[in-house]
Amino acid sequence: MRRKLFEVLTVSVLITALLAGCSEKNIEETEADAAASVASSAEEKEMTPADMRVGVFIYKLSDTYMSLFKDELIKDLVKAGFKEENITVVNSAVSQGYQMLQLRKLIASGVDILVVNPVNTSKTAEVTDLAMEAEVPLVYVNREPDAAEEIRWESESMPVTYIGCDARQAGTFQGKIIMDLGFENIDKNGDGVLQYIMVKGEKNNADTYFRTRYSIDALKKAGWNVEKLAEGNGNWDKNVAEYVVTEALEENPSPEVIICNNDMMAIGALEAVSKSGLVAGDDVYIIGADAFEVALEKILEGKIVGTVFNNYVEQARLTTGTILSYMKKQNVAHFYGSDYVKVTKENAETILGIIREGDETEEEY
Ligand code: GAL
Repeated sequence: MRRKLFEVLTVSVLITALLAGCSEKNIEETEADAAASVASSAEEKEMTPADMRVGVFIYKLSDTYMSLFKDELIKDLVKAGFKEENITVVNSAVSQGYQMLQLRKLIASGVDILVVNPVNTSKTAEVTDLAMEAEVPLVYVNREPDAAEEIRWESESMPVTYIGCDARQAGTFQGKIIMDLGFENIDKNGDGVLQYIMVKGEKNNADTYFRTRYSIDALKKAGWNVEKLAEGNGNWDKNVAEYVVTEALEENPSPEVIICNNDMMAIGALEAVSKSGLVAGDDVYIIGADAFEVALEKILEGKIVGTVFNNYVEQARLTTGTILSYMKKQNVAHFYGSDYVKVTKENAETILGIIREGDETEEEY
């Protein structure tokens, strides 16, 4: 069901593609479903965006991707008529306990919709229960709850949804970018095996797990021989990744590829590589994920070989559209997927344009 829906949605996402983004247009509306829609605190009177109190909980605000998403979401909500003073943003500071405490506080003080980027995706049942008891619709973003949770939302018709990307696709795209470089070019020592270092995000995170697994699976499926020299958790962070790669290079001074679960860690890996005396883009290829401006610039300089665009502009629009649908008591699906895009030197300028101008695009709400 979820996959099917994902496919349907990604087709429409593909069509509207990068610039158009997604909004409530992707959310089916039927009168019958609207009637069956689960109660929200906005039920008694007709709510307008200006009345809506929105709670936005981010697992860690210093995380580059989440901070970009949060800024974009606020811009979009304001464009759609929400009042900035009615939007409460909570930095959960990587503490599940703190996130729960703040959720309880906000619910007690009155909130009409919750947007939650969970700290611990295996604890989302508690978050869901809390919101459902208070009859507040819930939009999870970026960190996908366990499959069992999503099945429960569906079977119990809960006003709960997830908006994000499919991390398997990011991994597969990273593998394809590496393959496009050509084995003969990558296999610097000519031993017929690609030696790599893997820099992973946080532990117990779906993006970490799937990006790691699917990048390597793509290479193996294409018949490439691969050998992992070292791996470590860079926790999505540039400095931690630099440390991880510096340590790895001491034991393994000649990796052929360094695969990073995100771009900030690719930038950290680049620092470590440059300090070790290797030439990135020549002796060793570094790849990331997210398509942050700083990484796109390094791609254009030839220092990072590629990334995959994690489209926060589109995801913020999908979130705003979903909030509006809950407000209007329209039918909302339980999963909205945004597609990743492969990025290399060829299209890095285009993606830079989308990031720089994305928020200027007029969107009708
Ligand atoms: C990923 C993103 C990372 C980091 C992580 C947080 O989707 O690529 O940069 O933000 O989410 O869970």
